[in-house]
Amino acid sequence: MLEKKIRLEHSHRILFTREVFAPANMTIRDLLMLDRPTKVPKVLVFADEHVVAATPGLADALRGYARAHAEVIDLAGDLVVLPGGEPCKNDFSLVQKCWEAVNDAMLDRHSYVFVIGGGAVLDLVCFAASTAHRGIRHVRFPTTTLSQGDGGVGVKNGVNYFGKKNWVGSFAVPYAVVNDFSFLESLPRRERRNGIIEAIKVSLIRDRAFFEEIESMADRLARLEQPALERVVQRSAELHVEHIATGGDPFELGSARPLDFGHWAAHKLEQITRFEVTHGEAVAIGMAVDLVYSVRKGILDEITARRVIALVRRIGFDIFHPGLLAEGHSGEPAILEGLEEFREHLGGEFTVTLVPRIGQKLEVHEMDRHLILEAMHELRGQALVGV
Ligand SMILES: NC(=O)c1ccc[n+]([C@@H]2O[C@H](COP(=O)([O-])OP(=O)(O)OC[C@H]3O[C@@H](n4cnc5c(N)ncnc54)[C@H](O)[C@@H]3O)[C@@H](O)[C@H]2O)c1
Ligand SMILES: [Zn+2]
Repeated sequence: MLEKKIRLEHSHRILFTREVFAPANMTIRDLLMLDRPTKVPKVLVFADEHVVAATPGLADALRGYARAHAEVIDLAGDLVVLPGGEPCKNDFSLVQKCWEAVNDAMLDRHSYVFVIGGGAVLDLVCFAASTAHRGIRHVRFPTTTLSQGDGGVGVKNGVNYFGKKNWVGSFAVPYAVVNDFSFLESLPRRERRNGIIEAIKVSLIRDRAFFEEIESMADRLARLEQPALERVVQRSAELHVEHIATGGDPFELGSARPLDFGHWAAHKLEQITRFEVTHGEAVAIGMAVDLVYSVRKGILDEITARRVIALVRRIGFDIFHPGLLAEGHSGEPAILEGLEEFREHLGGEFTVTLVPRIGQKLEVHEMDRHLILEAMHELRGQALVGV
């Protein structure tokens, strides 16, 4: 056997700014200069239709930026607008549409794709960009609290196929992620709230001080005040990136997925409710299930579980949904099928991350179905009486 080690180093750059396409904003200019291009690089920009609708003048702003910085940016064609939200990941013809746009604009391996949008549009366009010409540099501009603090700052992309979520996709480190907080201002309230739950999640597994900071800001977060949201999204993004860069498994070859705390039940609940419950709302409930389960299993003390659940509720998330108890094929609640589906999705050994203390994580390889059911009933009771 001939075996040679190939070492690959990646830079994972996350930048925070406001009004990124204002001509005086140097964020993009500085990014494009990093590679010291010998000729002006071509840039093709894709955007989420809802962001375009909520940001009048976006296409003009892009053209204005390119004019003001013509020595570093060559806008290659008009803005390509794509449907926003999860449906865009269910329509494979949109991947082809992105490839066509790249081909028509004659992008090459020295060019850039920019994508502005929610996590779904980012996943779609980054998949297309990472496969065109075996990978074109792409810069993500996430526009939701969830994608700025969590999904958009990662290294994965993909679309749904065979009716399965993210079945086709790749790991591709973006050239950069630019979090422009001004995009969050046009988000509907439900979407503004969603990102806060991933911040609580990452604080629980990694950073007790951040959890306490979120507690201290709970009322402002409940009112969805912009400065409080920005602080929480920024720290959440930093912690997610820190995990990817230093957690030892950036491309997820192992079985553990600590950033998926509370997610096994969340994914299944989204499916059971046909996505009427959003991802953030489902994670709030999924975390509550795992917290109460952990108390019953003797992993976590009850006072801590109540403290976390109280915070989640204060911010405006529910901790129970009747879908948790909806019957599945076997006669048991369908939510329990989520355990097996979670294992299948990750492959390898069944691994769920729990939280024994705020700021710490614990991996377990089995879960007691009976205690999960007890936890769900307890949450239903708590939700009813409002304790
Ligand atoms: N790649 C990853 O590592 C990763 C991780 C987590 C989640 N995800 C994916 O992210 C997707 C969810 O992303 P999301 O939570 O950002 O939701 P989303 O992309 O579905 O966006 C939610 C809605 O808000 C709209 N929108 C986005 N930005 C807006 C703005 N600034 N103003 C007004 N409307 C706006 C969108 O068009 C959409 O209708 C899922 O497909 C999920 O699988 C990917
Ligand atoms: Zn999530």
